[in-house]
Amino acid sequence: MISSAWKNRLERQADLRRALGRDRAIQPAAGLDFCSNDYLGLRRDPRLAAAAAEAAREQGAGAGAARLLRGDCSLHGALEAALAQWKGTEACLLFNTGYQANATLIPALLAPGDAVFSDALNHASLVDGCRMARAAGAHLGIYPHLDLAHLGEALRTWRASAPQEALALVATDAIFSMDGDAADLPTLVDLCEAEGALLLVDEAHSTGLLGGDGAGLAQAQGVAGRIPLVMGTLGKALGSFGAFVCCPDSLRDHLLNTARGFIFSTALPPPVLGAALEGIRLARCEPWRRDRALGHASLLRSALGQAPCPSAIVPVPVGEDGRAVALALALQAQGFDVRAVRPPTVPAGSARLRITTGAHLEAAQVTSLLRALANLGLLPGGRT
Ligand SMILES: Cc1ncc(COP(=O)(O)O)c(C=O)c1O
Repeated sequence: MISSAWKNRLERQADLRRALGRDRAIQPAAGLDFCSNDYLGLRRDPRLAAAAAEAAREQGAGAGAARLLRGDCSLHGALEAALAQWKGTEACLLFNTGYQANATLIPALLAPGDAVFSDALNHASLVDGCRMARAAGAHLGIYPHLDLAHLGEALRTWRASAPQEALALVATDAIFSMDGDAADLPTLVDLCEAEGALLLVDEAHSTGLLGGDGAGLAQAQGVAGRIPLVMGTLGKALGSFGAFVCCPDSLRDHLLNTARGFIFSTALPPPVLGAALEGIRLARCEPWRRDRALGHASLLRSALGQAPCPSAIVPVPVGEDGRAVALALALQAQGFDVRAVRPPTVPAGSARLRITTGAHLEAAQVTSLLRALANLGLLPGGRT
């Protein structure tokens, strides 16, 4: 039974969400996928399904326990080795989700008096990790989006008054999930090395898509192997589920012993691991997938009059929440699964359509979407 006090509170909050046009509901997938993160079109690839089925037959449907209990199987180690080799790092540690990784690795690293600096548009999972670290006594500095001069100043100012033993961590998305723009990793690496700060880069939206071998933005920008903590997810371009942190052995050992999201959670199940291994193999040996996803996005971006960006995320700024929802519904009615993104996922007043592209889409389908966007008045100068 829910008490009337609780009922009243829930109703008040639901009324407020509706009044603000921010009520959320789960909407089943329908129409052409222009909104998921399945950038390489691997989620439904029969080879991933076969790898998952084989893993389930050989090692079980579930892991049965946390890794540190009895949940470990040979596929966990194989997947960690494959990821470390791909990303050019000494080691790797799997986490069950990207949210769990980011939210729990930051507090696992920072002590009271330490500091974490975070880009203003970082993903919510990094934000929550930073907030947890702050609640435990670390300083939290949020720097304006991509403003590395500001970050440098903030690091030096903090250092000048911090205890000598205090340490700093800098956290950034590689590709920002709601804007599709990219961090300047070489400058971040140089800055963090100069200031002695640990750099954490979230490659959730670049793993599988960028770089000569698809390893991510660090590879594309020539700094693979120079970033101490490269986090990424397995549920987006790689078509499976889960997350990882590629890092030196010493950091892996620390996280394995201290990150609560790793310790207190049942290990990733074998089918997910089997599919992820196959997803990595295909991401590497079928480069046409990333070329196609990125090609579609660059076509959309140029028709929208936007600057080039190395990602498959194309935001269409709308501003007002209700208008973003109405535009998304209009596109859905024409068979294009495009979703509106509203606050608090994006800052107030910056609701948008978040269009994504994937290898599963044909060029003609992208052109049809462009025509639909033009008919809704969303292309500059009425271009089609
Ligand atoms: C940048 C970024 N980091 C982390 C996550 C969380 O990953 P997961 O879905 O595996 O929890 C997401 C999205 O889901 C993301 O966009």
